[in-house]
Amino acid sequence: MANAKLEVDGKTYELPIVEGTEHERAIDIGALRNKSGLITLDPGYGNTGSCRSSITFIDGDQGILRYRGYPIEEIAASAHFTEVCYLLIYGERPDAKQLARWKADLTRHTLLHEDMKKFFEGYPPAAHPMAIMAAMMASLSSFYPAGDDDESLDLNIIRLIAKSKTLAAFAYKKSIGQPFVYPQNSLSWPANFLRMMFAVPAEPYEVDPVFEDALNLLLILHLDHEQNCSTSTARMVASSGANLFASLSAGVCALWGPRHGGANQEVVEMLETIRSSGSTCRAFVEKVKRKEAGVRLMGFGHRVYKSFDPRAKLLKAAADRIFGKLGIEDPLLALAKELEETALHDDYFVERKLYPNVDFYSGIIYRAMGIPTNMFTVMFVLGRLPGWIAHFRELRTDPDNRISRPRQVYTGATVRAWEPSAT
Ligand code: CMC
Repeated sequence: MANAKLEVDGKTYELPIVEGTEHERAIDIGALRNKSGLITLDPGYGNTGSCRSSITFIDGDQGILRYRGYPIEEIAASAHFTEVCYLLIYGERPDAKQLARWKADLTRHTLLHEDMKKFFEGYPPAAHPMAIMAAMMASLSSFYPAGDDDESLDLNIIRLIAKSKTLAAFAYKKSIGQPFVYPQNSLSWPANFLRMMFAVPAEPYEVDPVFEDALNLLLILHLDHEQNCSTSTARMVASSGANLFASLSAGVCALWGPRHGGANQEVVEMLETIRSSGSTCRAFVEKVKRKEAGVRLMGFGHRVYKSFDPRAKLLKAAADRIFGKLGIEDPLLALAKELEETALHDDYFVERKLYPNVDFYSGIIYRAMGIPTNMFTVMFVLGRLPGWIAHFRELRTDPDNRISRPRQVYTGATVRAWEPSAT
């Protein structure tokens, strides 16, 4: 095994180099503090590997994304969401028998416990559906015991993937004051969700196959993205021994932020603002470059990708396809393309290697499907949830699994005396 040498104050420390299957190399600093008293400092973990993982591979310089070794482009061309969930969670594609069983199980567990419906009643109408999702996800643990054995875990995995769409659709129905629509289990996972979102009692509702396919693609593209903020959060919570529901609820909260899954909502709001203000893409880009009061080009940039995010490429093509099939036009799609071109030809973005990410075009497709803006991040949850589950399951059997507990470099006051207060 190769070693790295670190020299500090005239002393040399040898640190092992570990190598992944795609030849990524890392210096293992696990023993550094014991040997030298030193820790490493890396705010935002930009250069820190937190674990070994065999779920997803990303090469950010070349724009490569693979789930369990399969290129995302090949999966996206023909796979069904639920089959890819199985691949990510269990490591291999299911055979015909396993797939039939998996689909049947995911169908049987779509209902929510009737008592959970009362929780929805307590929220104000304007409650953000992400708040409801996070709370409901954790609440599931009070209805379904989180046993430690594999069988209980497998059952709870099925429950979560099956029920998450029901939770999301109920959160939406609650926000618009319509009655809940119960799942119809003859439908595929995406179609069942769309029906629960948009059907109203006493009126026929047919799921548009263009929307069903579009949602299937969006869900697949959001499934996993290795150690991003929400996945790392879910893993960190799980490392304390917290149950699956609690760990995933933490993942939902982490995803909510505008720098992460909340960006899809922000992109559409940004495009709407440019449009309604009568401003131009060039003027907006100049504002971004001046770093005016936190203004960023939402849906652009990525910690790992320093070239095109392959998911963004697939979604841009999908947006054209979907709008073509539906025979509709959305001025925001044209605006997004113009904004992308403006940024991609501007030195500020070129020098910093900022490209469109998965959130740049996803919101425009959700809009075409009639999904309201405040549900966009919930849509991201539905896609990412099986990815979090795969990481939870991987962590459980990881021989390196210890409680996640980073260190710090303390910069506060040095010791001072506490005088009793006068009163
Ligand atoms: N618009 C303008 N400037 C940007 C942007 C952007 N979207 N992203 C990065 N930069 C600049 C940033 O100002 C900095 O410039 P400078 O060196 O002059 O200070 C440089 O690029 C490096 O940025 P950073 O913030 O240090 O990069 P990061 O790796 O910490 O952040 C990011 C990554 C995704 C949070 C960031 O690119 C961002 O805020 N993008 C907009 C939000 C977004 O689209 N998020 C979705 C990410 S993909 C899906 C997901 O994970 O949920």
